[in-house]
Amino acid sequence: MATLVNRSGRPDWSIDQDWAAYSKEEHGIWRTLFARQAKLLRDRAAPEFLDGVARLGVAADGIPDFRRLNDVLGRATGFQIVAVPGLVPDDIFFEHLAHRRFPSTCFIRTNEQLDYIEEPDVFHDIFGHVPLLVNPVFADYMEAYGKGGLKALKQGALHQLARLYWYTVEFGLIATKAGLRIYGSGIVSSKGESVYCLDHAGPNRLGFDLLRVMRTKYRIDAFQETYFVIDSFAQLFDATLADFTPYYEALAKLPELEAGAVLPTDRVIHRGAGKKRRGITRNPAVA
Ligand code: PHE
Ligand code: CO
Repeated sequence: MATLVNRSGRPDWSIDQDWAAYSKEEHGIWRTLFARQAKLLRDRAAPEFLDGVARLGVAADGIPDFRRLNDVLGRATGFQIVAVPGLVPDDIFFEHLAHRRFPSTCFIRTNEQLDYIEEPDVFHDIFGHVPLLVNPVFADYMEAYGKGGLKALKQGALHQLARLYWYTVEFGLIATKAGLRIYGSGIVSSKGESVYCLDHAGPNRLGFDLLRVMRTKYRIDAFQETYFVIDSFAQLFDATLADFTPYYEALAKLPELEAGAVLPTDRVIHRGAGKKRRGITRNPAVA
């Protein structure tokens, strides 16, 4: 990662959101993004995500005031949103999560970036991540991930752990009685991938397997070649409860896997048709 500069002047990199400073245009961009994702996600997102959106009131009318969201979130799970200027160093990020604080950017993408932005912006961070922080099991998972991140840093296993975050928090799918649903924030904040991940024959959809996921490389500049499907957030939480130290030792001896690989041991829900993905190779609004 490129060297990050602390523009906040505080040791935890936090800033004030300065909600009053958003322009009409900026609120308008949020409304556009919100309206189209709300429509796309009605039948595609996990019920827990949609429930979180409804309870938070993140919001058809403009960029939300973090203070208002924090009232609801605090009462639901004790999580709080902390405003930051952009990406923060890994240790700062983990430290926030470990204390049930979610670092969120404040700036919003421009009209030219509606479909694709390289860095997380406030739409990705708030609309994408915060609704699930209302869910008690998911909130516990995020706190545990923060603690696990601090540990992985010391053990030189960040690379492996980051893949878990990528394939769950950012790009996870969940099985429901009604079919597969989206819970990953990188998907819910992306118009193209919200459709692609569920409706296209291209990508693999495989049952979640912790060690398998931590061996799998990922692309940050294209739609995913593989999505991992959990059965419940409890499954995810339980699978990550154990001390990862022996896992990291085992992983160090195993080869990493290509993003599109399918193994004989995989639980295949859908085997991807492969890379014939003309016109849809860019990945909007990941993180
Ligand atoms: N249990 C993991 C460890 O001991 C930490 C962790 C929890 C990692 C939840 C990811 C998610 O390292
Ligand atoms: Co993100």
